[in-house]
Amino acid sequence: MEIKAYLNKHRSVIEAYLEKVIAQPVGDFAPHIEAMRYSLFVGGKRVRPILCIAGAEAVSGGKCNLEKILPIAGAMECIHTYSLIHDDLPAMDDDDLRRGKPTNHTIYGEAAAILAGDGLLTNAFELLSNESSSPDPTVKLRVIQLIAQAAGSFGMVGGQSLDMIYEGKQVAYETLKTIHKSKTGALITASVVSGGLAAGATNEQEQALTNYGNNIGLAFQIIDDLLDVVSTTEELGKPVGSDEEADKVTYPSLFGIDQSKKMAKEAVDNALDSLTIFDHHAEPLRGIATYIIERKY
Ligand code: IPE
Ligand code: IPE
Ligand code: MG
Ligand code: MG
Ligand code: MG
Repeated sequence: MEIKAYLNKHRSVIEAYLEKVIAQPVGDFAPHIEAMRYSLFVGGKRVRPILCIAGAEAVSGGKCNLEKILPIAGAMECIHTYSLIHDDLPAMDDDDLRRGKPTNHTIYGEAAAILAGDGLLTNAFELLSNESSSPDPTVKLRVIQLIAQAAGSFGMVGGQSLDMIYEGKQVAYETLKTIHKSKTGALITASVVSGGLAAGATNEQEQALTNYGNNIGLAFQIIDDLLDVVSTTEELGKPVGSDEEADKVTYPSLFGIDQSKKMAKEAVDNALDSLTIFDHHAEPLRGIATYIIERKY
């Protein structure tokens, strides 16, 4: 399977879906909608929504009902984009470039950027409660709860809070792992597991997808840390050296470049091991795991 082609195809499907369901910047709230749409449509790899679809495909044996999955996939991208807008704010990482373009607050101002993030987060839960997301109310509620937990105080938000608290401080390896698993791993895991649940995953399949997600989530953030050191701003579309400047605790700062690469690879190998219960319909998940450590941006 050519993973690049799979990623490109699904990126287009997700963008077309979001274009359709996110409000147009007209009427009284146009300035707010415009700020939300700016960050959502300015680019991005769309890894989380693609994982959601790939998780559903692995479970449904390729007979994935996209109509049911797209609201969940779209919601994950809205939550992720909100996390990026807030992550770039002066009070947090204070970055001025994202997805190759000026960050939200540098264009619209801080207040509008905070609200653009709030709007995207709230819109995500509107999408999740959408009729077509899953006709079964029990499944729908589980998916909503899973995503709320992953986005909240014991997931992404909690991880971001630790990331800020530990700026400039000595951090034990266990704490660093906790930060990465929560600030980044939680949304990645929720993406793949929610897709699987919506497609009717058994407990065993849910567990396998959770292990897969936790491992690729960790690898994703290790590689993000590495790219901040070894890539270029042009290639990455966000400022390199941002972590060192803010004195963040990262894998390369604790272990160096080569050891960090090895640790990311180990996490991806563990992720691949968790997929053994799935047949060839999990090939996209396997391809994405490998893509995560080979990616250049
Ligand atoms: C960046 O995420 C923030 C992290 C959690 C590491 P991505 O690398 O997925 O960013 P986009 O969505 O492609 O811009
Ligand atoms: C961000 O981690 C994780 C989020 C929840 C947004 P980083 O701060 O390293 O992400 P980038 O490098 O700015 O994309
Ligand atoms: Mg950050
Ligand atoms: Mg950042
Ligand atoms: Mg980073």
